[in-house]
Amino acid sequence: MILGIETSCDETAVGIIESKGYQIRAAALASQIPLHAPYFGVVPELASRAHLEKIFGVLSHCLKKARIKRPQSQIEAVAYTRGPGLKGALLIGETVARSISQAWKLPAIGVHHLEAHLACTLIEYPRLKTPFLGLIVSGGHTDLVVVKEWGHYRVLGRTLDDACGEAFDKFAKMLKLGYPGGPLIDKLARQGDARAIRFPRPLMESSWDFSFSGLKTSALYWLRDHGRPATHKGLCDLAASFQEAICDTLIFKTKMAMRRFGLKTLVVSGGVAANSRLRRMLLKASHEESWRFFVPSAPLCTDNGAMIGVAGCLRLKAGGRAQRAGAVDSSLPFPRWA
Ligand code: KG4
Ligand code: ZN
Repeated sequence: MILGIETSCDETAVGIIESKGYQIRAAALASQIPLHAPYFGVVPELASRAHLEKIFGVLSHCLKKARIKRPQSQIEAVAYTRGPGLKGALLIGETVARSISQAWKLPAIGVHHLEAHLACTLIEYPRLKTPFLGLIVSGGHTDLVVVKEWGHYRVLGRTLDDACGEAFDKFAKMLKLGYPGGPLIDKLARQGDARAIRFPRPLMESSWDFSFSGLKTSALYWLRDHGRPATHKGLCDLAASFQEAICDTLIFKTKMAMRRFGLKTLVVSGGVAANSRLRRMLLKASHEESWRFFVPSAPLCTDNGAMIGVAGCLRLKAGGRAQRAGAVDSSLPFPRWA
């Protein structure tokens, strides 16, 4: 079994997965949503402190759930998020992982958070095969990546400004809906008309990169000119129109990349991959274009400990078995993400 520790942003999460077949043995998570909600976004200093307060409780709860009594012999390695993420928050997970590694004489493996979002798909689809196109859509990232094989990532495009999840969160803040904004907009949009307002879809054909700050400004101007919709129907239409602009952009570039690189398998993950409209649009496109399409179930799209465990497995496989007990990640290759 591999233990995974995630503390890159606002979830303190631990997962234990079986290295053969990637099944989840146990998972535990302490969400910081109520802590950050009054600020409509993640406050880095509060996040670090909350990770420190919660991590040991989450860890022991997860070990108990997995009925691990002798971690030294039952666990093969401890994986943790090395980056990208909030520096102070990452430091908590890394320090805990390295301490465990010393105490239990296990290798510690630093994993790439975005590789972990993709690798998470293996939990429910262990037969997923490379090559594929990966689309990672979260609060911090919007990356389009060609994955030739696990560990080889060619980033075609990423966001030049806000990530798509960030756009959802900031738009929800403008409407004073709450935090995180994505699920709230998703819910409202289900009852709305996506054609009600035409928001811009920037950088469509000209680039693999994304840009969502113009959409945010455009929504801000719309609110300045029209005011916050007075009716529930008006609010739903606005939410649906905003969501549609994001989904259209993501689908358009995904299609373009799948065709251009002759790929037939698509993997989409990250918090925004939980969006119901995006999932439906991707499913439709996959039927039309005859793609094999994989997306984790919604709870596995957002940050979790199990995904770090799976990425740890991939790193162990890539680096050969870590020979020395207590070996740290410097002995294992960290994937290039560029
Ligand atoms: O992957 P994640 O948990 O954390 C990061 O690595 O950033 O993603 C969090 C993001 C937030 O911006 C949140 O608003 C968004 O995912 N999100 C959604 C939905 N659920 C979460 N966005 C749109 N629709 C959803 N259903
Ligand atoms: Zn994430």
